Amino acid sequence: MWEYSDKVRELFLNPKNVGVLEGANAIGEVGSLSCGDALKLFLKIENNRIVDATFQTFGCASAIASSSILTEMLKGKTVEEALTISNKEIAGALNGLPKEKMHCSVMGQEALEAAIRNWRGEPAATQEQGGEIVCKCFGVTKALIVKAIKKNNLSTVEEITNFTKAGGACGECKEKIQAILKEIAGRAPGGVITDLRIKPAQNLANPLPLTNIQRMQKIMSVLEEIVRPRLKQDGGDIELVDINGKTVTVALRGTCSSCHASKLTVEGLVQSTLREQVEPDLIVKENM
Ligand code: FES
Repeated sequence: MWEYSDKVRELFLNPKNVGVLEGANAIGEVGSLSCGDALKLFLKIENNRIVDATFQTFGCASAIASSSILTEMLKGKTVEEALTISNKEIAGALNGLPKEKMHCSVMGQEALEAAIRNWRGEPAATQEQGGEIVCKCFGVTKALIVKAIKKNNLSTVEEITNFTKAGGACGECKEKIQAILKEIAGRAPGGVITDLRIKPAQNLANPLPLTNIQRMQKIMSVLEEIVRPRLKQDGGDIELVDINGKTVTVALRGTCSSCHASKLTVEGLVQSTLREQVEPDLIVKENM
């Protein structure tokens, strides 16, 4: 289970600037639902200054909090000032993110750059987004990995996974990621990047496996204290129907029960939240 700062918890439960922005003249979209995280950033720019910003996201607590804080950081800035915001600053404004969640701050920065390109009438895909795909699971290119390494001084495959998600699923691309690290270290003066080992995938489960009773108690408490309040803000609700081993069956209520798109998002939200807060291999199903 990851430790979140109070700021991340606060913005996950009460995100600011959510939704479509009327009159937006700059829209940046990154990620995809099939990859687990997606962010759409809306900006209203007047006289080269960002006067308003909102977002829509499909993602975990860190993605929601990162997007929310980014919109706050953007308001009032000129386009040039906004483009200097780094993913490190986004994470810093949240008083830190778990290292496994740094890719959420990167997603915010990518969405910002995409929105500015949109405003300037430039092509949507950057050099980082085009080019050779290294990680097929998450569609991450070599150029994006190189950029993340250089901007954040990354030195291990595990760190690259944390910042870009590359390598975080089947793991088949890890050898290629290691080769990129080696290539960059070879070019770096003095061999700054020295640790090229592929670290074993981090065991996200608790050191001691949960008993069935402990799992049930934790699932119930996360649904009650985190998920329900979040859904209720949008007129939805959730009921726990059954817990069978690692499979959690829920019933969606209110607006969540009638909208197909919303249901997909809600199911993803519930599963990702339970995986973060309880156990990484839980499966959430909806009681039809
Ligand atoms: S190809 Fe990169 S994790 Fe599967």
